[in-house]
Amino acid sequence: MATYGMIVIILMLFLTRITAQDVINIAQGKIRGVLRDGFVSYQGIPYGSISGVNGRFKHAGLAPTWTNVRESNEIQCYSSSPVEDCLHLDVHVPHGSNLPVLAWITGGSGRYNPTLLVKQGIVIVTIRHRLGPVGFLCLSEDKVSGNAGLKDVVLALRWVRDNIIAFHGNPNKVIIAGQSFGAALVESLMLTPMASGLFHGAILQSGTVLAPWAFNYDAENRAKFLKMNFDESKDMHFLNKVGIADLAEKAEDLEVPYLPFGICIEKPLKSEERLLSQSPFDIMSTGNMSKVPMIVGYTNNEAYVFASMLKSSKALTKMSKGMDFLLPSELQTNKRDVPQLANKVHDMYFDGNKTMASLLAYHRDAYFLGHIHRSVRLHASFSDSVYYYQFSYLGNVGVEGEPGVIKTGAAHSDELAYLFPAKGEKLDDEEGIVQENIIRLWTNFVKHLNPTPESEHFLWEPVNPHDVRILDINVDLNMVEFPYKRKTQMWKDIYEKYYFENRRNSAQ
Ligand SMILES: *[C@@H]1O[C@H](CO)[C@@H](O)[C@H](O)[C@H]1NC(C)=O
Ligand SMILES: *[C@@H]1O[C@H](CO)[C@@H](O)[C@H](O)[C@H]1NC(C)=O
Repeated sequence: MATYGMIVIILMLFLTRITAQDVINIAQGKIRGVLRDGFVSYQGIPYGSISGVNGRFKHAGLAPTWTNVRESNEIQCYSSSPVEDCLHLDVHVPHGSNLPVLAWITGGSGRYNPTLLVKQGIVIVTIRHRLGPVGFLCLSEDKVSGNAGLKDVVLALRWVRDNIIAFHGNPNKVIIAGQSFGAALVESLMLTPMASGLFHGAILQSGTVLAPWAFNYDAENRAKFLKMNFDESKDMHFLNKVGIADLAEKAEDLEVPYLPFGICIEKPLKSEERLLSQSPFDIMSTGNMSKVPMIVGYTNNEAYVFASMLKSSKALTKMSKGMDFLLPSELQTNKRDVPQLANKVHDMYFDGNKTMASLLAYHRDAYFLGHIHRSVRLHASFSDSVYYYQFSYLGNVGVEGEPGVIKTGAAHSDELAYLFPAKGEKLDDEEGIVQENIIRLWTNFVKHLNPTPESEHFLWEPVNPHDVRILDINVDLNMVEFPYKRKTQMWKDIYEKYYFENRRNSAQ
C-alpha cells in the first residue's frame, strides 16, 4: 500500500510539474501549451499585427498582448486566408534548458509534424507569414513596397530572439530552415542587413532566391498586370480594399509558371525600411552576405512533381515539332541566338531518345538544380562551411507515383516526409534508416553547426568550389562527385549571359 501511495504522490508531483510547466509567461501575456508525446507545443502565438486593410502589403506592427491565459490553437495559412490570420508561430519544446533552436520558415501551406526532430532535444519554431499577393506584391509605392511576407519573418525572428529563453531555447543558437519557396526566403534573410545577427546557421532544401520563380526582376510589371485584371482606375489603392480571395484568384490569371509573386528589389521609400536594395545575384557575387554555416541541397528527381502536367500537356509530342520551349521564358535572348542556344540545350538532354525521363531531367535542371548549384558555388567561394547534399532515396512515402511515369529517385518535397512524418511516427525498414540518417544530420547541424561532429563515423566534407562533391543521402551516406557538372555549367553560362546581366540593367 505504501508503494501505491508513493506512486500516486510521485504521479501527482509529476502532473503538477507538467501543468506548471505548460503555462509560459512572456511579455505579451501567458500562454498554455498542449502536452504531447514527451514535449509541449505552444501553437498560434501572434508575433505581429496588421491593422486591417490599411496595413495590407505593409510591414506589420507590434505583437498584440492579452490578459487571460491564451490557449494554443492550430492555425493554417493559405495564400487566400485573411492577412491577420497569418502572423503566428508555433513553438515545440522538449525537456532541457538552453536548447538549440530550429526555426522552420514555411513556403506555402504545408503541415510540418515536428515530433521526431523535437525528440532529438531541439526547440522547433514554425513560422507562418503572409503569402501570395498580400505577402509579395511589389510596387515602388509607399503602400505596396514589396517583401511584406519576408519582413514578417524578420519580425518573427526578432520575437524568437526576445522570447525563446522562456521556452528553454538558446537565442544564440538559432538555425533557420525552409524548403522550396521557404528555402528562397531563408537565403534572402542571409542577404539582408535587417536580419543579420538573428540566426547562426541556415538550411536550404530544394530552393534558392536565384531561381526566377522565387525572385522577380519584373515584379512591378506583374503587379500592374494584376491591377489591370481588376479593370479599375489608375491608382493602386483599391488593391487594399478588394477581398483577399479575389486577389489570389486574379493572381492566377497571370499564368506565369509557378508563383506569380516573389521576392523583389525594393525602391527607396520614405516610410519603409528596405529589406533588399540590390539583386540577390549581385549581393552574392560580391560576398556581401551573412556567411553562417549552411546545408544546401536538392532531390535528384525534383521535377517529378510536374509529371502529371507534362504528361497531360503532351510535352513530348510537342517537342518533336519544335524546341522553342527549351529556353525558359525569363531569358532575354536576341532572336539570332535562339536557334543555337536551343540546340545546345537539346543536345544536352534530348540527344538520342526523347523520353519522359529526359524531359524530367531537363525540368529538374532548368528550374531547380541549375539555380541551386549556382547559389552553392557563390556561397562556397566566400565560406568554408557549406554542406551540399543530394537526397536520392526512392521510398513509399512522399510524392505519389504518377501512372505511366516511372518514379526514379526522390521528387521535390520527398525529404519532408522523412523529416516531418505526417503522424510523427518513425518509419520502418529501409525508409527508417534513411529517416534516421537525415534526422541525425539535420539535428547535429542545429546543435553543433556541423552535420558530422567528431561523434559521427564519417565526414560530410564542406564544398570545395574547385572540385564540388556532395553527400548522397540514401540508405548509405556517401560523399560522391557532383553528378551534373556539365549540365549545370551550361545553365550557368546561359543565365549569366542572358539573364543576370540583362535584367540587372533593365531593373535599374
Ligand atoms: C553591402 O550591403 C550593405 C547593406 O545592404 C550596403 O549598404 C553596402 O553598400 C554593400 N556593400 C557592397 C560592397 O556592395
Ligand atoms: C533509346 O531507347 C532504346 C530502347 O529503349 C535503348 O536501347 C537505347 O539505349 C536508347 N538510346 C539512348 C541514347 O538513350
